[in-house]
Amino acid sequence: MAASIVESGEDAFRKIFKFYKRRNPPPDFTDVIDFSKDVLSNKIVPAKLDPAAVSDVEAAKVGLKPVIDWRAFGLQGYPGFIFISNPFLLGSRPFWVRQCLKTYPQKPNVCNLDMHMPPSDTQDIWGKSIHALSCPPSGKREQKSLLERLRWVTLGYHYNWDSKTYCAKNYTPFPTDLHLLSFQITAACGFPGFNAEAGILNYYRSDSSLGIHVDESELDHSRPLLSFSFGQSAIFLLGGTCRQDPPTAMYMHNGDVMVMSGQSRLLYHAVPRIVPAPQGHTILEMEGCSLASSLQDNTVVERMSKQDWEVCSKYMQTSRVNVTVRQVLGPGQSFPETPLIKPRTDAGQLAGYHNEPADRESERMRKSRSCDSVDTEE
Ligand code: SIN
Repeated sequence: MAASIVESGEDAFRKIFKFYKRRNPPPDFTDVIDFSKDVLSNKIVPAKLDPAAVSDVEAAKVGLKPVIDWRAFGLQGYPGFIFISNPFLLGSRPFWVRQCLKTYPQKPNVCNLDMHMPPSDTQDIWGKSIHALSCPPSGKREQKSLLERLRWVTLGYHYNWDSKTYCAKNYTPFPTDLHLLSFQITAACGFPGFNAEAGILNYYRSDSSLGIHVDESELDHSRPLLSFSFGQSAIFLLGGTCRQDPPTAMYMHNGDVMVMSGQSRLLYHAVPRIVPAPQGHTILEMEGCSLASSLQDNTVVERMSKQDWEVCSKYMQTSRVNVTVRQVLGPGQSFPETPLIKPRTDAGQLAGYHNEPADRESERMRKSRSCDSVDTEE
């Protein structure tokens, strides 16, 4: 049992993070909550949604099932935490994956590759990668495509990894489709008028992880934080307000959505491990580009070309993409004139993103950032 490995006085979160990250011997996953199965655990409670807040037509427009059909859960001890087990209509997830791989990495959005490559090289990450991703492996060791070297993309107010702040000047328009998707999901969860202003996409390979942190840089913590998972599965750890609180482990599968709000908005969390999606879970290749028959006209979710679908499908066979969407400012709020430099408190120190390097390039990237890395967690 994961919880039993914690000895008194130790950092409970770190112990459990290490437990699930361990490769040899692999950990015991029996304590990991799986919301996609029939959940019997007494930790799990049904979450109350507001189906009247989003019409079936509005939901379908962004590729979502009617709210009445969503399987939404809460967790005992985590008020404000809502887990929605894949609320997407069959055939719409490939569209969102394509947005994450083809559209959102485009300029003016910012990505890790911009830090050490000229803009001309990062102008068309998708176009420069599709040949490599469409070809069968030649047997020789090939250089990784740009898409395979992508680790993060920021949207809207671009998160500054060094100062751990957002600022008015570093802003480009937030994607309207993702804004609408976030608006509908948060409305159904009881947060009407959510204004998606910043997004962080994390691209995980099978050996990636994300260190222990709190998302506290947004100025208005009364607004929820939304998280979308696509592709391979992950173990997600949700802790408490201090590192001594042992976290709860749960799977995030393809299409799952999490809402962290209220008392759960500022909790420690981390992703210690990517795990293959279980058999029977519809990964992209099974949804196909032609299966989008449930999609209506006049939706933001467009049908995709066979080539786009093949590239997305191949990439996602070994990858996971997570998108977090945040409202940074409350109504009428503006950024302080002198940016707040966060003191290095316990929470501040750990409020960074630490996608573990899968190659030398991202290792350099990680070192150039001032956030803690997963290495410090071990
Ligand atoms: C995740 O990848 O599921 C978590 C992302 C985050 O905490 O920012």
